[in-house]
Amino acid sequence: MAACAAMVNNKMIMRNSNKNAAVLLLIFLFLSSSTSTCKAHLSSHFYDHTCPNALSTIRSAIRTAVSRERRMAASLVRLHFHDCFVQGCDASILLKDSPSITSERNAFQNNASVRGFEVIDSAKAEVEKTCPGVVSCADILALAARDASVAVGGPSWSVKLGRRDSTTASLTLAEAQLPRATDDLQKLISNFAGKGLTAEDMVALSGAHTLGQARCLTFKDRIYNGTGSDIDAGFASTRQRRCPATGGDENLAALDLVTPNSFDNNYFKNLIQKKGLLASDQILFSGGSTDNVVSKYSRSPATFKSDFASAMIKMSEIDLLTGSAGQIRKICSAIN
Ligand code: HEM
Ligand SMILES: *[C@@H]1O[C@H](CO)[C@@H](O)[C@H](O)[C@H]1NC(C)=O
Ligand SMILES: *[C@@H]1O[C@H](CO)[C@@H](O)[C@H](O)[C@H]1NC(C)=O
Repeated sequence: MAACAAMVNNKMIMRNSNKNAAVLLLIFLFLSSSTSTCKAHLSSHFYDHTCPNALSTIRSAIRTAVSRERRMAASLVRLHFHDCFVQGCDASILLKDSPSITSERNAFQNNASVRGFEVIDSAKAEVEKTCPGVVSCADILALAARDASVAVGGPSWSVKLGRRDSTTASLTLAEAQLPRATDDLQKLISNFAGKGLTAEDMVALSGAHTLGQARCLTFKDRIYNGTGSDIDAGFASTRQRRCPATGGDENLAALDLVTPNSFDNNYFKNLIQKKGLLASDQILFSGGSTDNVVSKYSRSPATFKSDFASAMIKMSEIDLLTGSAGQIRKICSAIN
């Protein structure tokens, strides 16, 4: 990001062209060649020569995993999201606790719910067999999210590659920056804005909740304390059956009650009927500024899918390490 900002400054300085500016320009050029976090370095052909089979190897690992367990598609999409929102899409979420790492896996928003690590590890191991040390874990996460979407009938998109892996993780940033089901609309909007994503992107991306499951403890308050104008009474009592007021915290319920295993726009139709599972789902359609986006996606599955794809591309390019920054890990769960 810093390098990209410097490039913009260069152009402004050239227009002013005076002596001081020329010196500044040289400094900026030096800085931008030595800093390496810039989206411009990505390419969808990044591994064409260095690891031509990488994409097909990863795709088949993801297909196998999803055919074994359909929910894995949801888990892999979420894993990429939770990677990108903490230090950028740098595979920091994959690092386990070690003397130098305090793992993000233990963050409140991740522990006991983020999954799919072994699928990424095995895709990485397959790729390492033919091209050791070439393909980053961060790129594998981005490709896995796309391949998972496709595997359950969701949209496809072209993933630009060239991300590198972090040598650090941050439990503190994870707890501070990953959204929570209890966040209000303003907080959600400003959280996503902080990552360069608009409110509309946020609504499209929340449509990932057309897939997967949530634990009782994440929606218990809503199904017992929600008011009639906020939650459909029949839906609340259905969900209470497997989510008692005390206990049962780990019991699961589908985020999309209609079609939990396929990628469609029922999630948005549910919101209009006040049948969103999480408070953070229903808040997207609660009389606020995002209501119109929810309505639009509830009417047009095609618009939802294409906006979801665009927003996933944006999300997958948050604060990347590229060039010679970071490293290509040998195994995804530990630094080299
Ligand atoms: C808008 C803010 C968001 C909040 C507050 C939120 C919160 C949650 C929560 C609480 C769960 C259940 C976790 C548990 O059981 O503990 C969940 C699941 C999930 N989230 Fe989100 N989420 C948000 C946005 C997103 C985005 C942007 C994506 C992806 C693009 C996403 C993808 C998923 C998926 C696929 C699942 C199901 C995972 C599985 O079944 O393994 N979420 N989310
Ligand atoms: C997850 O984190 C919460 C709060 O940080 C903690 O109370 C809980 O014991 C943790 N659960 C697991 C399974 O590690
Ligand atoms: C309902 O709200 C009350 C008051 O905030 C709270 O003490 C209680 O734990 C909530 N019930 C559930 C099931 O979360």
